[in-house]
Amino acid sequence: MSEAWKKRRAWLSALKWELPENLETPAQAAAFEGEHFLAPRNEKPELEEDAGLGEAYEITSQGETWRIRGGRTGLLYGVYALIRCLLTAGKIPEGICSPYYPLRMLNAWDNMSGDIERGYAGRSLWFEGGEFRYEPDRIRQLGRMLAFAGINVLCINNVNVHAPAQGLADEWLPDVEAFARILRPFGVRLMLSIDFSMPLQRGLETADPLDPRVQEWWRQQADRIWETVPDLAGFLVKADSEHRPGPNAYGRTHADGANMLARAVAPYGGVLVWRAFVYDCMQDWRDTHTDRPCAAYDLYHPMDGDFDENVILQVKNGPYDFQVREPVSPLFFGMPHTRLALELQLAQEYTGQQVDLYAMPPMWREIFDQIGKEKAQAIAAVTNLGRDDNWTGHPMAALNLYAFGRYAWDPDLEPEAVIREWVRLTYELKPEQENVLERILLKSRSVYEKYTSPLGLCWMVNPAYHYGPSPYGYEFQAWGTYNRADRDAVGIDRTSAGTGYTGQYPPALRDLFENKDTCPENLLLFFHRLPYTWRMRDGRTLIQRIYDDHFEGYDEAEKMKEELETLGLPAVDAAEVIERAERQLQNAREWRDVINTFFHRLSGVPDEKGRKIYL
Ligand code: GCU
Repeated sequence: MSEAWKKRRAWLSALKWELPENLETPAQAAAFEGEHFLAPRNEKPELEEDAGLGEAYEITSQGETWRIRGGRTGLLYGVYALIRCLLTAGKIPEGICSPYYPLRMLNAWDNMSGDIERGYAGRSLWFEGGEFRYEPDRIRQLGRMLAFAGINVLCINNVNVHAPAQGLADEWLPDVEAFARILRPFGVRLMLSIDFSMPLQRGLETADPLDPRVQEWWRQQADRIWETVPDLAGFLVKADSEHRPGPNAYGRTHADGANMLARAVAPYGGVLVWRAFVYDCMQDWRDTHTDRPCAAYDLYHPMDGDFDENVILQVKNGPYDFQVREPVSPLFFGMPHTRLALELQLAQEYTGQQVDLYAMPPMWREIFDQIGKEKAQAIAAVTNLGRDDNWTGHPMAALNLYAFGRYAWDPDLEPEAVIREWVRLTYELKPEQENVLERILLKSRSVYEKYTSPLGLCWMVNPAYHYGPSPYGYEFQAWGTYNRADRDAVGIDRTSAGTGYTGQYPPALRDLFENKDTCPENLLLFFHRLPYTWRMRDGRTLIQRIYDDHFEGYDEAEKMKEELETLGLPAVDAAEVIERAERQLQNAREWRDVINTFFHRLSGVPDEKGRKIYL
């Protein structure tokens, strides 16, 4: 395997020394990093482990000396926090610092073949050819990166569990433990995605969660697993979703299925994370009553309170599927008696596939502000990692991984602050260059949004691979993803007069979305079906706004590319960043012209400004 990754630090450009193989505990890692980073600067800290602090730490100074007091992993987090502050000229945090979400998890969609479902940074870092295969050095560096960002759990296999990954909870256990051992000194624990039908594959005639034989089978399975991997964090399950097996086959509820598994893992302090990404993926496009965004709430809201204590229901941020712009999922308001995890996606499946630049912190700020951080008790994100030398395909996509960890610790952070930290931890730029790069990153999402699907409409991408425009690509498919554009109007009425989706929100949000005049304009076509002549609040017609956004989005992508070309990035990243900016511009051009032509052909309305639309 290539060693070139050693030159690429994703965001730890100052931490160049190799990590030794013999680290066993986070306290040892803390001492090692302190020795290498702080001691040469005459800032060697005194470290004091205080088991009661867990993941928390406190940094104080006495004269010239830093003092870090922290729990088992808190000590390491404290050392990294001090390094971060010194490298970014950040303020040393006062008092005891602890993470907001106790479970801060990455979900890898890695298959044991080495492919990654929706992976855009090369092959798996730890699987290849149906088995574990990795460079221990690189996994240690990964552990350091995750701990530095604040992430504490890694689910190593795809939620769609394909053969031979069913065996991860069985014949591969020694390999799981060997892998876990490398990440343990960084406070990173593993989780496994499991297949609900596993008992069937192992000779039982049923996987019915209420059958005592099945319950006993999972109990024994848990005994074996925790005996080999004593700190496994738990299981992640995608059930009855997109053809995955689940309890519905036996006429049982999702609470029955989740609780059965939760009881098997409870004696070991394990959690059972159950994904709420469930909808009818075999819908008939002629059926205008079924509305996919309604599905998860309709299913789970009546089950609120039925889940065991150690079950976490993992809910995607929006009711669809990681589109550029969706409202927040109503489940965050409708499950007060259930522990929830907010699921984000770092892999840029629908957001430019790590070719187009797309910094997520501004989007997450909006999500946290709308949901309220306290509505979730845990947080997870689908990773954007892979075996590419730079870890994330686009070198700047690493920002999203870093920022995810930072938001998981502190969901109140401002995007500007997180972006600044990442820029300073990654590049040594002059202040004016830093400002340019931060500005580019901050607006990158809005640029992407402008040249792709307008105003919350979603799903105008090429089906299957989800890159590039195809406005009718999903229109006659079974996935429940329609825009229903015709010559007069576009969008779906999701108000009480339409599919009724707005009724799933608490009254204040329901009323906001229900009314065309108060609905946020960037979500207008998510909630309403509107004629092209609809007047936007600034007086433009809807169709004109669509044209304007698409022309502007392309122009802004072009400007971004010019700025990136002259920014003075280090050579190791510059060529790749610029090459991707060129591909992004081609993509933006394709989106602009396909979407503008699509709406012009349907509506017959010309662009008021007379710009080129291909007819
Ligand atoms: C999306 C994605 C799938 C993935 C699914 C999920 O539909 O395209 O690849 O399996 O989400 O979150 O389970």
